[in-house]
Amino acid sequence: MGIFVTVPEYKPDGPTITLEKVKDAKVLVVGGGGREHAIVDALSRSIYVKKIFCAPGNAGIATQAKCIPLDDIQTDELLEFAVHEHIDLTVVGPEVPLSAGIADQFRAAGMRIFGPSAAAARIESSKSFAKEIMERKGVPTASYRTFTDYDEALEYVKAGSIPVVLKYDGLAAGKGVVVAMSPEEAEAALKDMLLDDRFGKGKVVVEEFLTGPEFSFMALVRGKEVWPLALAQDHKRAFDGDRGPNTGGMGAYSPLPFITPEDVDYSIEKILKPVAEGLFEEGCPFEGLLYGGLMKTPQGIKVIEFNCRFGDPETEVVLPRLESDIYTMFSAVVDGTPMPEIRWSEDCVIGFVLASKGYPGKYSKGYEIDGLEDVLADPAVRIYHMGTSVKGGKVITAGGRVMMVTASGETLSQARDRALAAVGKIRCDNLFHRTDIGHYSL
Ligand code: AMP
Ligand code: GLY
Repeated sequence: MGIFVTVPEYKPDGPTITLEKVKDAKVLVVGGGGREHAIVDALSRSIYVKKIFCAPGNAGIATQAKCIPLDDIQTDELLEFAVHEHIDLTVVGPEVPLSAGIADQFRAAGMRIFGPSAAAARIESSKSFAKEIMERKGVPTASYRTFTDYDEALEYVKAGSIPVVLKYDGLAAGKGVVVAMSPEEAEAALKDMLLDDRFGKGKVVVEEFLTGPEFSFMALVRGKEVWPLALAQDHKRAFDGDRGPNTGGMGAYSPLPFITPEDVDYSIEKILKPVAEGLFEEGCPFEGLLYGGLMKTPQGIKVIEFNCRFGDPETEVVLPRLESDIYTMFSAVVDGTPMPEIRWSEDCVIGFVLASKGYPGKYSKGYEIDGLEDVLADPAVRIYHMGTSVKGGKVITAGGRVMMVTASGETLSQARDRALAAVGKIRCDNLFHRTDIGHYSL
């Protein structure tokens, strides 16, 4: 389903390079979660890539890349490292360094980097900016109003219907969205966001509550050109049956049987392409991975949110299905060279996140994890580490989400059975997981 919209007037402003010159490319991946592990894994399959660094990485990534003890927000140090090591391409995983301008900084120094400018990253970092672009381009999304004043917001919410969705207008590590099921809950959330400044001083977007299955549509974007990737569905709630608190994602799978080819065309033509155009017209062309968090509502497909980077944990189930060379795909975006054909395996991939007990609330770290070698003997299984480190030669838990166990299969249920069998072999005293990932399609 390759899509190619040629727009001659847009040329990336960074340096360009021909792939023949970089047969032995050195790549730096910024970040240290499951998404970055999946990106490192995909890069390790490239015929062009000779050496991969990852900053800061984790215990799993360390088996496939050299980990550098720099945080993703240490952009000065990362640039210094990239220049010193003659890195050919830097790929940024998380949104925080992108919003802080890591891509602008690298490009200004003449370094090739995959990721949008800080201005283009506002599609994720500012909910009101994203809404304005969508409104201007007629992109279907929930109706909304933006407020800075608590009393005005409260009056509007009281006059409207419940449930209502309240979104803090800035990066809030996934905690800035409240789906209020009662007027009291809405009032408390508004107080939190506008009176107590829980996430800092800012605006709140009050949004219409939509219903329907959500899905994640990621695409490579350069200016007005859009190349869609395979679809995935995330599971945000902590417990089975989509109950419990929202998390960073407890599992995912790809492809999605409930999304039709017409849905895909609609999402590309009416959502992804117009937003890429909107950013271009705004003077901040997007260069990197644009993530559409979409919902198939009874009134059609609508946008829930945009992200300016690969989704986590969607990347861990999408990239294992990729049959094309990811380095050439990244290079096409960075250099403005032709995009190779993007091919996908027919296999289904599903992944279960193993999280520390207590997550997304308080949890403790440092528990030993056993049984990983045994699990990896099955070629259909891949494990992407999310929050792990090594102590005394043992892999230990080091985060809320610890690892994602993925498996491929000819059908989703075969993949699910393989993944759950693998999960059953992993021994650790402090982990839990959902058992119903993929339930919407099984
Ligand atoms: P976001 O961070 O914007 O993706 O929001 C987190 C989650 O809140 C989404 O994945 C949805 O499940 C839910 N959500 C956000 N906006 C809406 C909406 N307008 N209607 C219903 N649910 C929503
Ligand atoms: N899976 C949702 C996200 O990456 O933000």
